[in-house]
Amino acid sequence: MTEIRIFGVAGSLRRLSFNAALLNAAAELAPAGMHIDIGDIRHVPPYDDDVRAEAYPPEVEGLVGAMQRADGLLFVTPEYNRSIPGILKNAIDWASRRPDQPFDRKPVAIMGASRGVLGTIMANHHLRQILVYLNAQTLPGPEVLVGEAPKKFDADLKLVDEPTRAFVRGHLERLGELVADGRR
Ligand code: FNR
Repeated sequence: MTEIRIFGVAGSLRRLSFNAALLNAAAELAPAGMHIDIGDIRHVPPYDDDVRAEAYPPEVEGLVGAMQRADGLLFVTPEYNRSIPGILKNAIDWASRRPDQPFDRKPVAIMGASRGVLGTIMANHHLRQILVYLNAQTLPGPEVLVGEAPKKFDADLKLVDEPTRAFVRGHLERLGELVADGRR
């Protein structure tokens, strides 16, 4: 496989976030030739169109640049009230207002972890809808929905559940194929 660079973002700011841990696991499980850079949306300010009209904040410029340089994106999101967290929507909203918005035709994978049994099924679905509108190439199912997260990670937040590890690995392989298809 030729080198594939993925930019990954977790939708939780929590220090002991299962979603941040899942993103770390993905970076560890990436197939040969794929590298996952982990971004941070903590300092992206609340969207304000007056601010945008003056200048994009540096935090947004940095985020958008990293997304543009990447061959593909990986969003790992919690589910908040059956949707995605505001912090993640806010970051996407900022990036989407760039004339050269970074989602256009970009391969994107979505994963999520939740304490509940259903995983992040609604959050994944909402995020996919947003990304389809932005003309991203979202990787279709089977989706990575890590339910009952406390059972899948150990005390150090390492993903230890072997079937889940294999599933994450397979999903990243499919993301790599989607990127490679776009290069042909
Ligand atoms: C939640 N949580 C939650 N879980 C779920 O499966 N479906 C949901 O709709 C919600 N809603 C929700 C709203 C809000 C405001 C919070 C703070 C939490 C629980 C959530 O999945 C759980 O806290 C995860 O552990 C959050 O992910 P991180 O921070 O561990 O990555």
